[in-house]
Amino acid sequence: MKSTTDFIKMKEMNEKITMITAYDYPSAQLVESSRVDMILVGDSLGMVVLGYDSTVNVTMEDMIHHGKATRNGARDTFIVVDMPFGSYHGDETETLKNAVRLFQQTGANALKVEGAGMLLPSIKRMINAGIPVVGHLGLQPQSAAILGGFKVQGKNAEAAKKLIQDAKALEEAGAFALVLECVPHQLAEIVTQELRIPTIGIGAGRDVDGQVLVYHDVLRYGNHHLPKFVETYADVASEISKGITSFCNAVKNNEFPAPKHQFTMSEETIDELYG
Ligand code: KIV
Ligand code: NA
Repeated sequence: MKSTTDFIKMKEMNEKITMITAYDYPSAQLVESSRVDMILVGDSLGMVVLGYDSTVNVTMEDMIHHGKATRNGARDTFIVVDMPFGSYHGDETETLKNAVRLFQQTGANALKVEGAGMLLPSIKRMINAGIPVVGHLGLQPQSAAILGGFKVQGKNAEAAKKLIQDAKALEEAGAFALVLECVPHQLAEIVTQELRIPTIGIGAGRDVDGQVLVYHDVLRYGNHHLPKFVETYADVASEISKGITSFCNAVKNNEFPAPKHQFTMSEETIDELYG
């Protein structure tokens, strides 16, 4: 398994970091066997797995439940788990309590939080307690209500400057990596150059140290809306539909089960049964 320092070395060596989300045992097994560098148990699970409208509905219990299952499927891959909405905006003691619980119960290697500013003392407390932290700037889905929806962030000079400052503050606080979501590629490039820790982009162009995408988006697993920055590399949904339709047809046409699927008792037993 890679470590936090390995990811910083990968940046130094110009080796791109691959990260993809996983939320359960089978997805984690498949991601681990594909040799992805890092797994994210994202709170995006609220939408793609649980059918919520927003990540705001995701609870600590949801994250623990799915984090555990993901660890069971990927024992040898570095796993980052998202802290859910509301679990890290209270005082530092409450945040630390939630972070310790999430970290211990899921067996994660790191936790991710959205934002900087007011959170920095809590982030320092987590790191001080031995919990590696990944930052997340740009579009912060947990704050969509404040940001006015899902929009590109850091487009004007003032917002871009603030984002660069926040990124530096997160590095100074001790974060070992930073997710940049939905920002202009030029801004992502500047942040990447200014930081010693790796940047992992989603909708942030290619001049970053790594890329993260949502499992269900990359594989077209489900019929949900795909954002502009996603590329799909498989069409799992159509394969699943085909498979289910074939099963139903086989049952209706009396083709399934076939003799090879059946269990048999001896003729003697049948005679006994009638006798
Ligand atoms: O929850 C998630 O999947 C994420 C990624 C989009 C970075 O936070
Ligand atoms: Na997330």
